[in-house]
Amino acid sequence: PTVYVLNGPNLNLLGQRQPEIYGSTTLADVERDCRALGAELGLEIAFHQSNHEGAIIDLIHEARRSAQAIVINPAAFTHTSVAILDALNTFDGPVIEVHISNVHKRESFRHHSYVSLRAEGVIAGLGIHGYLLALRHVAKLVG
Ligand code: DQA
Repeated sequence: PTVYVLNGPNLNLLGQRQPEIYGSTTLADVERDCRALGAELGLEIAFHQSNHEGAIIDLIHEARRSAQAIVINPAAFTHTSVAILDALNTFDGPVIEVHISNVHKRESFRHHSYVSLRAEGVIAGLGIHGYLLALRHVAKLVG
């Protein structure tokens, strides 16, 4: 099975961006860890990041054809994007929402997620380990 791991805006700066909130690990480290765990679990990992809402929507459409599950950290689009929610609603497999930080401990505008209306589950506040936990869960669902 193939799993799309999608990352939204500013996550390309992971490691440099507000390290007190998001830690010092880079997105390349996250990708490497996801690929290593994917190999262990028998999952093919397609790992992407974009700062552009439309590009993320195009990747979700691509996943309709080529993936069995989606793990997504929509970053700030979590709180704003009906369009990403609508795109995820066209996807048949499980969707897991991941946030590195505990969004519920932060500003109130981060407490609402459009994507949560579609996600099977949400992992927040466990740092980059959240991605790996999401992959382990996905492996049980589609592996
Ligand atoms: C985030 C939380 C969002 O509120 C924020 O806009 C991000 C990252 C997280 O991983 O903790 O960019 O999704």
